[in-house]
Amino acid sequence: MSEGAVKKEERRKFQAIRGTRDLLPPETVLWNRVEQTAHAVFGTFGFGEIRTPLLQTTDLFARSIGAETDVVSKEMYTLVDEMQGLPDPVDFAVSPEEYVDAVQEAIKGGEIQVTNSNLQALARLKSELALYNARTESSSEEAHLKFRLGASKIKFGDSISLSPEATANVCRAYIEHNMQQLPQPVKLYYLGPMFRRERPQKGRYRQFYQIGAEILGGTDAPAIDAEVIEMVMTFFEKLELQGVQLDINSIGDRNCRPKYVELLRAELLKVKDKLGADSQRRIETNPLRVLDSKLENEQAIIEKLPRIGDHLCKDCAEHYAAVKQELGLRAVKYRENWRLVRGLDYYMRTTFEITASGLGSQNAVCGGGRYDGLVELLGGPPAKGIGFAIGEDRLILSLQESGKAPAQQGRDVYIAWMGENARATAIRAAKNLRNAGFSVELPPVEQKFGKALGQADKLGARFALILGDNEVASGEWTLKTLADGSQQKLTELQLLDFLRKL
Ligand code: HAM
Repeated sequence: MSEGAVKKEERRKFQAIRGTRDLLPPETVLWNRVEQTAHAVFGTFGFGEIRTPLLQTTDLFARSIGAETDVVSKEMYTLVDEMQGLPDPVDFAVSPEEYVDAVQEAIKGGEIQVTNSNLQALARLKSELALYNARTESSSEEAHLKFRLGASKIKFGDSISLSPEATANVCRAYIEHNMQQLPQPVKLYYLGPMFRRERPQKGRYRQFYQIGAEILGGTDAPAIDAEVIEMVMTFFEKLELQGVQLDINSIGDRNCRPKYVELLRAELLKVKDKLGADSQRRIETNPLRVLDSKLENEQAIIEKLPRIGDHLCKDCAEHYAAVKQELGLRAVKYRENWRLVRGLDYYMRTTFEITASGLGSQNAVCGGGRYDGLVELLGGPPAKGIGFAIGEDRLILSLQESGKAPAQQGRDVYIAWMGENARATAIRAAKNLRNAGFSVELPPVEQKFGKALGQADKLGARFALILGDNEVASGEWTLKTLADGSQQKLTELQLLDFLRKL
């Protein structure tokens, strides 16, 4: 690198990684309000908060969400958490045979897990050893060098991923902590960042935030489906989210869905030539996803396809009818949408999605559904399950678009002080006001009153407390209301009283 290039590199400005962003005040005031409302509303429905690690084994997601889904096959941030304690293959003191033996011992001893990727890595290492043995006949030093190069690229360890969603994670925790022994069902909620390597656009990020809830164990009574939906709708109502539209569907179960999927595949094959490349591929991989297509020229074709509602087995049809009735009892308004299939493999029966206004094409603000059997699939006891996740970024966007965002993180009181005597009084006043719960700005150095009042205005303070020699001497402080410029004289006690009554 030239000297110029090095200097430029040193001066490089660092920026947030594509698809990630900083959340700043005053927007974070809205984030906090949303999260506090979630804690409050979910608490009234008897849910407890769960916090799970962001890093999980990759297999957890492959098994639950489905290895073929977009989320798992294309969008996860995955890395090999390398096994520590193996000899360094680059070390000349360790012979290639000794290195391979050490790896095999670690596999036997359980320090390296028997996973597909570790077994494949072992096979690659063994073929490096075979190459080494063949090469030693000509030059052993060069052969060792080549082995070292090859072996250092073969990694052993666990494949781990950043969570793209939390349902799998919550089910894992349910099993790990034997929650089936608690009174059932167990009702849990979570909030926090998730990661998907999607193409960033408005409402779609690579680090995004979800607020979600899961009900695990107990029965699959339709009232549970309805109550969990009622809870999200109550939450949205409390936030005054605009343009809320709830879509529901039933996608059947292991009994009836495979038959419907085959029927759909057969029908899709008949019209294959008229479909786009994505849908053509999905006829083989996952025909249900064709129903998701937004392509203009596929809409008329999709409308004529067989509908799952006509092909549900008796149990699923009864369950779906009862969910609708339970929603009615709770006065939850919904629209049936037979094309709502969702992109994750674990769903069965009830699925739902909620859209809101002001979001453009990424308008799904919440998605969820029933996933009976997922806990069992992950090695736990048979257990029913249902839940949802809200995209918090989208929720915030929609609230902002409809003017529900605070303009500024205002202060209650700006203390304009001048003089040594006033400094001590100002510090005491700030302490007392803050203890009483008011937000106070105390300038660290003395300012002329005119400048201080200008600063108070810029910060959006409601009041300026003016403390100069006169105020300190008389004990009568000046409180200026910044909105109208009016002033009043108050003692410290009267001031607290006045602010408390606002
Ligand atoms: P999901 O539909 O994949 O479901 O995600 C739920 C919500 O997260 C979406 O409706 C959307 O609002 C938000 N979201 C997803 N990806 C992004 C992104 N890249 N940027 C911004 N927001 C995004 C699940 O995750 C399931 N675990 C929901 C669930 C819980 N089902 C049962 N229990």
